[in-house]
Amino acid sequence: MNTTEIKPDIYWVGGIDWDIRNFHGYLTQRGTTYNAYLILDEKVVLVDTVKHYLFDEMLARIKEIIDPSKIDFVLSNHVEMDHSGSIPKILEFAKNAKVITSTKGEKGLSRHFKKDWDFHVVKSGDTLNIGKRTLHFVHTPMVHWPDSMVTYIPEDKLLLPNDGFGQHIATSERFDDEIGWEILREEAGKYYANIVLPFGDQVKKAIEALSGLKIDMIAPSHGIIWRSFIPKILEEYTKWANHKTDNKALIVYDSMWGSTEKMAYKLMEGLIEEKIHTTVRCLKTNHISDVMTDVLTSKMILIGSPTLNNGVLPSVGGFLTYIKGLRPRNRKGFSFGSYGWSGQAVGEIEKVMKELKWELPIEGKKIDYIPDDDELMKVKELGSELGKRMET
Ligand code: FEO
Repeated sequence: MNTTEIKPDIYWVGGIDWDIRNFHGYLTQRGTTYNAYLILDEKVVLVDTVKHYLFDEMLARIKEIIDPSKIDFVLSNHVEMDHSGSIPKILEFAKNAKVITSTKGEKGLSRHFKKDWDFHVVKSGDTLNIGKRTLHFVHTPMVHWPDSMVTYIPEDKLLLPNDGFGQHIATSERFDDEIGWEILREEAGKYYANIVLPFGDQVKKAIEALSGLKIDMIAPSHGIIWRSFIPKILEEYTKWANHKTDNKALIVYDSMWGSTEKMAYKLMEGLIEEKIHTTVRCLKTNHISDVMTDVLTSKMILIGSPTLNNGVLPSVGGFLTYIKGLRPRNRKGFSFGSYGWSGQAVGEIEKVMKELKWELPIEGKKIDYIPDDDELMKVKELGSELGKRMET
């Protein structure tokens, strides 16, 4: 089993989930990793664990370095099972280990595992000396769970932020410069859009809390470890946390008999005529987690659905539910769709956009039955009009 020494006496001992494609509904087309780190000092600390089915892989890595019974502390930065799922198993080997966690972490782990573990509960700002190093704990509630915290090791200028700065990528490489910025930006963006997006205010606070620290390595719990692109990823996180977007349009739609699709493409033509970078995503062929990656950077979101049973198509309804939960702010919205009887879909979409407090520069457009050439020309004009409103 390959281990990687990321800093002197600090090892990556995680697991690689090469084939996972559905991570609680998020399409992980590149797989993922669960990163656990082993710190060798006067006290031995295992930082987080892996999903239960990769326990043997983690254990084999640990065994290459030390006898697991020598682990003094298992540090749980976050309760969710992709990181704490192997705690019960490792504690069978490290029988005397204490579990370091936050107050909410203790509650969550106790509720989940129903075990009477020896907890060492830490508050935000607490430290723990383990020999040459001192672990600093900073609670980062709602980034992205109430129990979430990060651990900082000043002697190594190392930040262990758990889910923060993660990306779902399964790779044999461990460091950012071994993969390249473009892929990482895309995957870190997708991760942020689908996991962290609702918590921008908390992310800003966390970045602020960490801003005074000397950090030359960020080792998250998913994907690669940042060492060369730290300023770039911090810049992106700051932009995302502030809901800053580019002057781009995203058209998301589904269609029953092709009329709403015709409208989508005419809107696209109008936007492109105004030199607006435009992306079109049909929900029949695009996964909602990929569409969210486009939402992250797009200022204008156009959503289209025909009316079915007095509402939107189920695919559009699913997307609206998803985006409502992820709460992107500071967007401009527009809704459109065809209908045969009553045409409620456009209003349903607008309702969600209003709930998200998006600006609606022009009223949504519904067309009964099949749009003719004149109507399609008018839809194109609406696209142009939206393009003109992009920056106003
Ligand atoms: Fe990667 Fe919130 O678990």
